[in-house]
Amino acid sequence: MSMDRSTSHEPLAPARIIVWDRLVRIFHWGLVLAVTFAAATGFLFPPNWLDIHVISGAFVGCLIVFRVVWGWIGSTYARFRSFPVSLALLRQHVADIAAGGGTRHLGHNQFGGLMVYGLLAILALLTITGIVTLGGVVKQGPLAFATSFATGQSARQIHEILAIVTLLMLAAHLAGVAFESWRSGENLVRAMITGRKAAPSGPVEPLATARPFLAAAILTMLAALVLTATIHLSDLPARGVPPVALDPTYAKECGSCHLAYPPSLAGAATWSAVMADLANHFGENASLDISTTTQLENWLQANSAEHWDTRAANAFRIANPADPQRITATASWVRLHQDVPDAVFKSAKVGGKSSCSACHRDAAIGRFDPQQISIPREARP
Ligand code: HEC
Ligand code: HEC
Repeated sequence: MSMDRSTSHEPLAPARIIVWDRLVRIFHWGLVLAVTFAAATGFLFPPNWLDIHVISGAFVGCLIVFRVVWGWIGSTYARFRSFPVSLALLRQHVADIAAGGGTRHLGHNQFGGLMVYGLLAILALLTITGIVTLGGVVKQGPLAFATSFATGQSARQIHEILAIVTLLMLAAHLAGVAFESWRSGENLVRAMITGRKAAPSGPVEPLATARPFLAAAILTMLAALVLTATIHLSDLPARGVPPVALDPTYAKECGSCHLAYPPSLAGAATWSAVMADLANHFGENASLDISTTTQLENWLQANSAEHWDTRAANAFRIANPADPQRITATASWVRLHQDVPDAVFKSAKVGGKSSCSACHRDAAIGRFDPQQISIPREARP
């Protein structure tokens, strides 16, 4: 890169100066990594990758908080003050580009700044809606104690829309970097790796001193607070997941041929239908004496899906009128398993759709966490 520095009055001045301090660069590439993992596990991978998805999301959240703090007390070009965004400035910037040339931006230009704020905001929203989804739909994490399934589902829809918008913004970001690199003749990707850009011929903005120790102190305090809260809140019983143990008689009588289906997996109507016809139970005679039948039916009714707010309870609550005794006949069950090939269910290792515990390691306690899904290796297509 040609420099006209040789004729300057300060021959010892560095030709390239640090624009992006080390923490900004670590933040940037850390975010690239975390968002890539979150996007891959969210869009492409099966649900049992949820833990990796949540961990990458948590990283994104931490990085966003760091960047906001660093925007106040970081080095010059890290500070939000160094890239204010306003309509007037944007208009000016567009006019500059249109005129061919324009001011050089050592830090972020107007569009770059706008993108930084936009991405920080949308990634923060993604983190928040992610935690609400985790709490309401999966009944895990710090908000599980307070979030209903319905709220979780709404958050999930917003989360999915935000994720797509984020991908579009990232595409725009890459296009902007390519365009600006071409326009300014300065490789901006390399600048984000080395942190350096060619020193301007004119005066440089006075350097703001970064305050890494203050930042570390603030972030440590925040981390301690959030971590403590997360641990304590995650320990609270999840909303809509009452601590009901399997009735021992039920476990014995209804768990001898198949999994003793947790009562939360079917609505009261399904349980009534099953208990009313035990003598003709799917080709088996499963009849019990009247008092045991009544006792079990009462217990099932008292703990049926209507009394739970898990994903499974919400999904399987509504019986299929054509086959009211089967959980596997409900529209939701069919939809949740539409990607699982029939051959997998028919394989000897699984033993049919009704063998929930062949693929759901936590089926016996009625949780059906995505992390606990594992199709037996021999049965995999
Ligand atoms: C003698 C063996 C036997 C006993 C005991 C038994 N079942 Fe079953 N049950 C079956 C068979 C066989 C099926 C059909 C499984 C299949 O289609 O793969 C079935 C299916 C079911 C299903 C439907 C599962 C689906 O596909 O959605 C429910 C619900 C059910 N049983 C509840 C009960 C309850 C409640 C009890 C206790 C009162 C009980 N069963 C006792 C043999 C038994
Ligand atoms: C052959 C293996 C297999 C069997 C048997 C099976 N499932 Fe599943 N189930 C899966 C897979 C795989 C998924 C994830 C589907 C997806 O989202 O791609 C799933 C998803 C689910 C979910 C949603 C979990 C979540 O939050 O992501 C529920 C609830 C569920 N199954 C309940 C049941 C019940 C109840 C039974 C038994 C009546 C059952 N499953 C039997 C493989 C199985």
